Amino acid sequence: MKKRLIVITLITLAAAAAVAWSSARPRVEPERGRYLVAVFGCGDCHTPLKLGKNGPEPDLTRFLSGHPEQMGALPAAKLPGPWMWAGAATNTAFTGPWGISYAANLTPDRNTGLGIWTEEMFVKAIRSGRHMGTSREILPPMPWPAIRNASDEDLKSMFAYLRSIAPVANHVPDAQVAAEGGAR
Ligand code: HEC
Repeated sequence: MKKRLIVITLITLAAAAAVAWSSARPRVEPERGRYLVAVFGCGDCHTPLKLGKNGPEPDLTRFLSGHPEQMGALPAAKLPGPWMWAGAATNTAFTGPWGISYAANLTPDRNTGLGIWTEEMFVKAIRSGRHMGTSREILPPMPWPAIRNASDEDLKSMFAYLRSIAPVANHVPDAQVAAEGGAR
């Protein structure tokens, strides 16, 4: 009986130690951020496609650097029939009833990327759907209404990872916001 009590006590102590260990671990981890950015497919829109041997492929020299400055601002497209929106060949620029949107530079470049962003701004932008967390609405097809469901730890981990990637100087053109209710 006594032996059994000792065993139970030891198991309880081990469990308590495991809980203490897991809560002591840092919850914001760039490595987890890398995983989440890959799973959410941020690169689908934020890394430009280039034409490779087997068709379009992500241009990894411009990893997550947004719509290429060299392509510049593009004209709105008028689409026939039920078609409502379209993407450029790079999949970084989009035209639709909202106007024209260009995927942002998510690299830590100071002047053209997220360099001056704080973790708080990033979390606020994704949660509120507002540019830099405070100003105009973030336009489609940026999937913030889905990404906002991530936990604080996950969003902060994504930001920590984005801080760690190579900075790419690439000035993305300003979005062209359509007039209220104005379909193109
Ligand atoms: C389907 C395409 C698409 C995907 C996928 C996507 N984005 Fe975006 N993202 C955009 C577009 C387009 C914009 C520019 C929107 C605008 O100018 O209003 C943008 C803008 C942003 C901005 C700038 C917001 C601001 O305040 O102006 C951040 C930060 C961002 N995306 C992060 C991410 C992250 C992180 C992921 C993955 C978790 C992601 N995006 C996935 C298309 C996408």
